[in-house]
Amino acid sequence: MSNVSRIPLAIPVVGPEEGANLQKCIEDNFVSSVGPFVTEFEARVSALSGAAHGVAMGAGTQALHLALHCLGVGRGDLVALPSFTFIASANAIAHTGARPWLFDIDADSWTMSATQLAEALAAKTEKRADGLYHRESGERVAAIMPVYTLGTPADMDEIGKVAREFGLPVVADAAAAIGLTYNGKKLGALADLTCYSFNGNKTITCGGGGMVVGDDDALMQRIRHVSTTARVLPNYEHDEVGYNYRMTNLQAAVGCAQAEKLTGFLEAKKRIRKTYNSAFSGRNDVTPFPSPADRQSTDWFSGFALTDAASLTAAELCTALQTKRIEARPFWMPVHLQPPYADCPREDQSLTDDVWRRIVTLPCSTNLTETDQCSVIEAVIDILEGNVS
Ligand SMILES: Cc1ncc(COP(=O)(O)O)c(C=O)c1O
Repeated sequence: MSNVSRIPLAIPVVGPEEGANLQKCIEDNFVSSVGPFVTEFEARVSALSGAAHGVAMGAGTQALHLALHCLGVGRGDLVALPSFTFIASANAIAHTGARPWLFDIDADSWTMSATQLAEALAAKTEKRADGLYHRESGERVAAIMPVYTLGTPADMDEIGKVAREFGLPVVADAAAAIGLTYNGKKLGALADLTCYSFNGNKTITCGGGGMVVGDDDALMQRIRHVSTTARVLPNYEHDEVGYNYRMTNLQAAVGCAQAEKLTGFLEAKKRIRKTYNSAFSGRNDVTPFPSPADRQSTDWFSGFALTDAASLTAAELCTALQTKRIEARPFWMPVHLQPPYADCPREDQSLTDDVWRRIVTLPCSTNLTETDQCSVIEAVIDILEGNVS
C-alpha cells in the first residue's frame, strides 16, 4: 500500500483548476446562485448531453423532483421506478406527493425491466380520458423513471416504446451516467428529461449539485422558473409556489473545472473496472458487474457480486476489508425494503432481492493508483480464500 493510510471508496479529485475558478468567484464577488460559471456549466452539460437546455440545481434529488413536478406529477400519482436504486430517486417522487410503483431489474444490466414494465402496464392499468390509471390503487400513473444503474443506461429503446404506447413521459435518473452515448445518441435524447447528480462520489462533482437537461423550451423554462422561487422579475412577485433550488456560482465553478477533466475521469473509471474484472476473472466466488453488449457504461463504481460459492457474505467481506483500511461497501438497499416505501405498489422483485445482498463495491476514485488497486485486489483474494491474519 502507498503512503495513503486508507484507500477510500470514491472520493472527489480536485486540483488547482477548481481552486482557480473558485478564486475567480471571490474576486468577481459572484458566489451566489447566479453567475457566469452557472451559465457555462449548464451550457457544457447540456451540450455534452445533446440537449437544448440545462438547469443546474443544488442536488440531483432536486433536479429529479422539479423534473417530475413540472411534468405535472403530484399527489395521487404513481411513478414507475426500479426498486433497485438509491433512495433519492424514490424521495424525489415522494417530494411531489406521488408514490413509486416499483419494478424489478434485468439480469444483464441491473436496470429497470422493460418487459415487466410493459406487462404490468398492460395488465394492471386502464386508459381513461384524463390519463392512465392503476386499477388496484385507483392512482394515476404519471411517469416512468428509469435509473442508469452504476452509469449503465436502461434499455431505453424498449422503455421509449412502452412510454409512447401508454402516453407516459420519461424522466431518466442519470445521476452517474454523464458522458455517455447510447446507440449513437447522446443521453439527453433518450428521455423527456434527464437528471444528473454532481455530489462528491460522482464522476464529476460540484461538491454537491444536480442538473435537468431537456429539449422542450417551455418545460425547461418552467423548471428554471420554479427552481428560482418562481420569481417574476424585477421585484418580489412570485406567480406560483416555487423552490430555492438553484446551484451557486461556487458549485458551478468547481463543476466547470471538473467538466474539463471528464474524458480523463471516464478513462480512469473504465481502466479501474477492467483491472478488477481481469484480476477476479476465473474465480467462481465472484461475478463482475453486468456489462450489456448493446450499451456503453460510465463504469461509475467498480466491484463484483458474490456467488453462492463465496465463503462469506458481502457485509462480512466489507468489514474484513475495512480492517485492512480499505473502504469497500455493499450497495443500495432496494426501495421496497425501506420503511418509508414499504406500502408502495410493487411487481415481483426476484432479481433485485437476490442481487443487492451480493454486491461489494471497491475503491474506484479516479486517482486510485495502480499500487493501491493491487493492494485492494490482494486483500480481497486473501479474504475470499480465508488467508487473513
Ligand atoms: C441513482 C441516484 N439517484 C439520485 C441521486 C441523488 O443525487 P444527489 O445526492 O445529488 O441529490 C444519486 C446520488 O446521490 C443517485 O446515485
